[in-house]
Amino acid sequence: MSKIRAAITGVHGYLPDYVLTNDELATIVDTNDEWITSRTGIKTRHILKGDEQGTSVMVVEALKGLLEKTNTPPEDIDLVICATVTGDSIFPDTANIATYKTGMVNAFGFDLNAACSGFLYALTVGAKMVEGGTHKKVIVVGADKMSSIIDYTDRTTCVIFGDGAGAVMLEPTTEPGVGVLDYEHHGDGSGEKYLYLVAGGSRKPATVDSVMAREHFVRQNGRPVFKAAVSGMSDVVKKVMARNDLDADSLDWLVPHQANIRIIQTVSKMVDFPLDKVMVNIQKYGNTTAGTLPLCLWDYESQLKKGDDIILTAFGGGFTWGALYLKWAYDGSGGA
Ligand code: UT7
Repeated sequence: MSKIRAAITGVHGYLPDYVLTNDELATIVDTNDEWITSRTGIKTRHILKGDEQGTSVMVVEALKGLLEKTNTPPEDIDLVICATVTGDSIFPDTANIATYKTGMVNAFGFDLNAACSGFLYALTVGAKMVEGGTHKKVIVVGADKMSSIIDYTDRTTCVIFGDGAGAVMLEPTTEPGVGVLDYEHHGDGSGEKYLYLVAGGSRKPATVDSVMAREHFVRQNGRPVFKAAVSGMSDVVKKVMARNDLDADSLDWLVPHQANIRIIQTVSKMVDFPLDKVMVNIQKYGNTTAGTLPLCLWDYESQLKKGDDIILTAFGGGFTWGALYLKWAYDGSGGA
């Protein structure tokens, strides 16, 4: 009997309406369009505005769109895994809120926190649940409302991040070669000092002092993160390419985490893979943390063909990083 694999059978995304431009940021902090564009590649990012609008708002929109596009009744969904670092609250988890609000009455859900690698890890977990034969329709969503943890007085971080959500449907397939085929993930907790939140967790719960000290916002030492991101993603992509006999000709797409166009360009050079087959949308959305990879797949969906060889790779806070190799399961847009 053929092995059951997990195939992506649909993808959908959601970006909030408000577009924050580089020029608007230049009215908030000491920056300018030239610096942001040349150092990061970002032109605009989307921001979820409004009182008490959490990440689940974007997750619900992405899930509704995915159900509609794939003609899936909500009650058919078995499981939703939501990769996020900005869940609506510490608990309950955002996946549960979203399954309730979309009528997925037979699904269970949980959140997975691996920062910018969250979607990659969640896709791996979702694929294993499908391969095990117990789950027939699994949704993996990557979503972050980064604007809720960004300090808009800190020019070194506020220009980079944006809000957004992307979701994929995973279903079993026995078609030879199609679906998720390989992955390799890594972690290194010593990276915590370069990219973190000081307060708001169990180690340092919120106090008046922590709020006054702006300790609930992202802090990043960009240069070491940049270097580690380049070496981590290049290294793991090379390994996954080598053990699956893939080269610059046979691999159709590389889907890298969208943190900085210079990181993407350097990784492309280091793995000797042409930039015109690398998915890039950082100019529109900035770094949406767990949202970047599915939002890339969504933007490029119409160009994808059944059988395309695709490697996704990410690097993020933790440090966390990895790569996943899959063969795309359907042609063009609209879901399998
Ligand atoms: O997704 C999670 C993983 N995160 C990443 O992968 C991010 C990795 N790091 C980066 O992308 C880059 O390091 C940054 C975009 C964060 C920063 O770019 P950089 O080229 O590494 O700049 P830098 O931090 O070395 O700063 C260079 C200069 C500094 O000024 P001085 O000290 O040379 O006078 C900064 O103060 O640029 C200044 N600067 C800015 N100037 C205008 C920093 N941010 C800004 C800004 N506008 N927004």
